[in-house]
Amino acid sequence: MMEGKICLITGANSGIGKETAKALAKMNATVVMLCRDKERGEEAQKEIIKHSGNENVDLFLCDLSSQQAIRKFVSEFKNKYQNLHVLINNAGVMLKNRNLSVDGFEMNFAVHVLGPFLLTNLLLDTLKKSSPSRIIIVTSAAHKRAKMDFDDLQSENKKYRLFTVYGRSKLQEMLFTYELSRKLEGTKVTVNAVHPGVVATNLGRDQSKFSQWFARKFFKSPEAGAETSIYLASSPEVEGLTGKYFIDREPRDSSEESYNEEYAQRLWKICTEMTGLNSQ
Ligand SMILES: NC(=O)c1ccc[n+]([C@@H]2O[C@H](COP(=O)([O-])OP(=O)(O)OC[C@H]3O[C@@H](n4cnc5c(N)ncnc54)[C@H](OP(=O)(O)O)[C@@H]3O)[C@@H](O)[C@H]2O)c1
Repeated sequence: MMEGKICLITGANSGIGKETAKALAKMNATVVMLCRDKERGEEAQKEIIKHSGNENVDLFLCDLSSQQAIRKFVSEFKNKYQNLHVLINNAGVMLKNRNLSVDGFEMNFAVHVLGPFLLTNLLLDTLKKSSPSRIIIVTSAAHKRAKMDFDDLQSENKKYRLFTVYGRSKLQEMLFTYELSRKLEGTKVTVNAVHPGVVATNLGRDQSKFSQWFARKFFKSPEAGAETSIYLASSPEVEGLTGKYFIDREPRDSSEESYNEEYAQRLWKICTEMTGLNSQ
């Protein structure tokens, strides 16, 4: 069903990303895994090949919090592949303490916002050339409680609170999804966001032992958490559909603030400057 399609998944060695990669490999797609750790990446690559019986599962190493690493990855990817039909911006972190990326940006902002912004923009020419093509952004319902704070994009002015900073970066992903869908109007490249549900993955590795036990017992499995990403990547039902927020395979309303076009344009401009995309 996905034979001949090239699908790039970030954070494909764990949780939702790994299950998405397995399912797409089983549908005979060529799966390109973007992972930051060689050992974890290779182990998952073997598992995905074994599970799917599909040898076309490639692995690239790239730390999405490093702009230099992203540029290097894109150049290596383009040297090897002429097409890209599905890009799934899935990688994510949930950090108890404030961390900075090698480029000096707060880590939630670097991994969820700036990294995917740069990666997606650098791959847009290939996605357009390969159209119809799809971009999927794995966001979170945690964006619903968040408020934009343009004066504190690096979360340095107030006490660092995990869910506040995580949620705000997920709201920024929503603003990015909608702005990108407007910019891609008239092309056959679609972009949609997905909330996977509350899923027992490695995302909570910074949480207490009790929370991790609770998650394993009561949260969705990673297989179930990957369902809507897989649906958006592969189903003919969503061909041409763009600029939507999905939960359980259904388009839903995202927060009021996520539809703020002025915020979306402002954030786009800031990300363009921070990634140096305007000087290319
Ligand atoms: N689990 C949930 O309940 C839930 C709910 C809503 C939204 N989400 C979203 O779902 C997405 C997938 O998360 P998950 O739950 O599957 O968590 P996970 O099991 O921790 O997987 C996250 C993936 O992202 C990778 N990653 C993190 N930082 C990276 C970086 N700098 N460069 C490259 N890769 C990086 C991780 O690599 P390593 O293995 O090397 O760390 C891992 O492969 C995230 O965007 C998350 O925000 C999850």
